[in-house]
Amino acid sequence: MQLAQYLKNRSQQIEECLDQLIPEKKVPYQILLNAARYSLLGGGKRLRPIFALATFETFGGEVEKALAAAAALEMVHTYSLIHDDLPCMDDDDFRRGKPSLHKAFNEGSAVLAGDFLLTKSFEILANLSFPDAIKVELISALSSHSGDHGMIGGQIMDLAAEGREIDLKHLQLIHQFKTGALIKASILFGAILAEVSSDEKKALEEFGENVGLAFQIVDDILDVTAPQDKHGKKISSDKINQKSTYVTLLGLEHAKILAQESLAKAKDALKKIPRDTGLLFELSNIAVNRQI
Ligand code: IPE
Ligand code: IPE
Ligand code: MG
Ligand code: MG
Ligand code: MG
Repeated sequence: MQLAQYLKNRSQQIEECLDQLIPEKKVPYQILLNAARYSLLGGGKRLRPIFALATFETFGGEVEKALAAAAALEMVHTYSLIHDDLPCMDDDDFRRGKPSLHKAFNEGSAVLAGDFLLTKSFEILANLSFPDAIKVELISALSSHSGDHGMIGGQIMDLAAEGREIDLKHLQLIHQFKTGALIKASILFGAILAEVSSDEKKALEEFGENVGLAFQIVDDILDVTAPQDKHGKKISSDKINQKSTYVTLLGLEHAKILAQESLAKAKDALKKIPRDTGLLFELSNIAVNRQI
C-alpha cells in the first residue's frame, strides 16, 4: 500500500472508531458529548494513533484489534489541545481549522470536555479485549507519559517559562515532556499490544523519543513559517505568548538542522530492530517533514 493511501485508510478507521466510542446520542449531559465530538472528530493528522497502529502492524498485529487503544491516545491528545488553547494557557482561538472549543462553546465546557476525554481514554483501555497484564501496562504507560513526568509536567514548565530566558537544555526537556512523551507512549502502545521483546521495546522507545522531540521542534518552526490559511491554528502564537522556542533560541536554520538530527537518531534506533521497519521509517519522515 502506498503511504498516502495507508495514512488515509488509517485516519478513516480511527475516525470511525472515535465516532463509535463517543457516539451521538440523546443524554442529559448533551453539551458534554457535543463539545467532545466537536474537537475530536473531523480534524487532526491522527499521527499518534497512526504511530501506535503502525508499530503494532510492524510486529504482525492486526489493525482492527488495536483501534480502540489507538483512539484512546487520540482522546488524550485532543484533550491536551483543548486545554492548551484555553485563555489561561496559550489563549488560541483557532484549532484544526475551526474555532477552538472554548470559543465555539464556552470555557467551562472546554475544561470539562477535556476532562471527559482524558477519563474516557482510561475507561476504554480498561475495557479492551486484551489480557489484564497488557491492559495494565497500557494504562501505566499512558498515565505516566501524560502526567507529571510527561505531558502535564511539560505543559506547566512551558507556562512557567513564558517571558523568561531559558537555555536550550531546559527547552529540550520541556519539548520532550509536553509533546515527546505522548508520541513515545503511542509507539509504546503498539509495542505493548504486540508483546515485543525488551530489546525491541528499548529501540522503539529511543525511536519515539527522537521523533517526539523532532515533532515539537517542527511545531515551533511551523509557528513561524506555515501559511496561515493551511495551518489550522494561529501562526505566531509563540511570539505573542513570549515562549522560548527552538526558533527563538537558535534561529530558523539551526532549528531545522536539529529537527533533522533528531529524525536521523530516530531512524538509527530502528536499525536495531531485526524486522522490516520501513513503515515506521516513512512515518517518521512524514511526521517531521510535514507542512502543517
Ligand atoms: C499539535 O499536535 C500540538 C503538539 C503537541 C505539537 P499535532 O500537530 O499533532 O496536531 P493535530 O492533532 O494534527 O491537530
Ligand atoms: C502543545 O504545544 C503541547 C501540548 C501538550 C498540547 P504547543 O502549545 O506549541 O501546541 P500548539 O502549537 O498550540 O498546537
Ligand atoms: Mg502550549
Ligand atoms: Mg499552544
Ligand atoms: Mg506550537
